[in-house]
Amino acid sequence: MSLWHVWGFCLLLNLAWFVCFAASQPNPPKIHEGWWAYKEVVQGSFVPVPSFWGLVNSAWNLCSVGKRQSPVNIETSHMIFDPFLTPIKLNTGRRKVGGTMYNTGRHVSLRLDKEHLVNISGGPMTYSHRLEEIRLHFGSEDILGSEHLLNGQAFSGEVQLIHYNHELYTNYTEAAKSPNGLVIVSIFMKIAETSNSFLNRMLNRDTITRITYKNDAYLLNGLNIEEIYPETSSFITYDGSMTIPPCFETATWILMNKPVYLTRMQMHSLRLLSQNQPSQIFLSMSDNVRPVQPLNNRCIRTNINFSMQGKDCPNNRAQKLQYRGKNYFYRWLVWVTFSVSDI
Ligand SMILES: *[C@@H]1O[C@H](CO)[C@@H](O)[C@H](O)[C@H]1NC(C)=O
Ligand SMILES: *[C@@H]1O[C@H](CO)[C@@H](O)[C@H](O)[C@H]1NC(C)=O
Ligand SMILES: *[C@@H]1O[C@H](CO)[C@@H](O)[C@H](O)[C@H]1NC(C)=O
Repeated sequence: MSLWHVWGFCLLLNLAWFVCFAASQPNPPKIHEGWWAYKEVVQGSFVPVPSFWGLVNSAWNLCSVGKRQSPVNIETSHMIFDPFLTPIKLNTGRRKVGGTMYNTGRHVSLRLDKEHLVNISGGPMTYSHRLEEIRLHFGSEDILGSEHLLNGQAFSGEVQLIHYNHELYTNYTEAAKSPNGLVIVSIFMKIAETSNSFLNRMLNRDTITRITYKNDAYLLNGLNIEEIYPETSSFITYDGSMTIPPCFETATWILMNKPVYLTRMQMHSLRLLSQNQPSQIFLSMSDNVRPVQPLNNRCIRTNINFSMQGKDCPNNRAQKLQYRGKNYFYRWLVWVTFSVSDI
């Protein structure tokens, strides 16, 4: 029986996945933290795509069974106005920062130098959170590429600024698996005639072509993180998860209410990045997107004041009671506010 027959048989009968896996591979590769992908690999050897992430590694089972997973589709008609959401505060110490831009094989990833600390607070945050990584997701076509959807529609890409709670945890790894660990600011990308100045630093031809292949890295200096933010103080927030394995449900998401722009040429350059090393075949990094996950009974809150004001979220109350920390009174106040309409 060929490998493909074994696979077809296994998938059809929906047998225990590991049995199938063992049968189809003469030498099963060691399960390791990098063994996952966004799409099928053309060259034969199996790498788990999003629907399999939670099945191939027991440490990742939240990817399958989690009830608060990300990304999600944001239905704007279901958003709740929360008058207690303060503006997001960005603290760069008024300094420009340096960092290294990487092709990780899955994303364009920018990490700041260790001595450059950028943190954010305010909004849904009780604690200050430090910037760990800026990650780009993008599509092979203009109508795909963002992980989150807005009323069922994707954008051409999504910038994710991943922060960890540096008040409670010593580093990102520690925070990622802990309550109130991560805050991810998400900014949609859209194609236009001119580009966002921060994106232009990353995506101009001279720079982006330095990281064409997996593991390529390039140093950037004089970056102003403030420039990546669009001109709006409006945002949408919900509680979710990391969008890559192990899918821990420790992330508060903040989606900015305006996109940032990049040029058609810059988008083209992104699509020319390879997931592979130079010696291997070219495989575009584009469509590095996890499909949307069920919202279940989570609340989507916003600081945009519109007519839904005061409406209660069905399951909000239990969650609010679990909030702990400095702003206990503040949280209690929110809880009371959301509850009165129901009395
Ligand atoms: C929200 O908008 C309503 C109607 O426009 C207004 O009466 C109310 O004061 C606003 N609330 C806040 C907190 O801005
Ligand atoms: C946030 O970062 C700045 C440096 O950019 C630092 O001075 C400040 O102490 C940090 N805030 C907290 C709460 O740690
Ligand atoms: C993160 O912090 C934990 C606990 O303090 C430590 O054991 C671990 O080695 C740290 N990891 C990294 C990558 O620094």
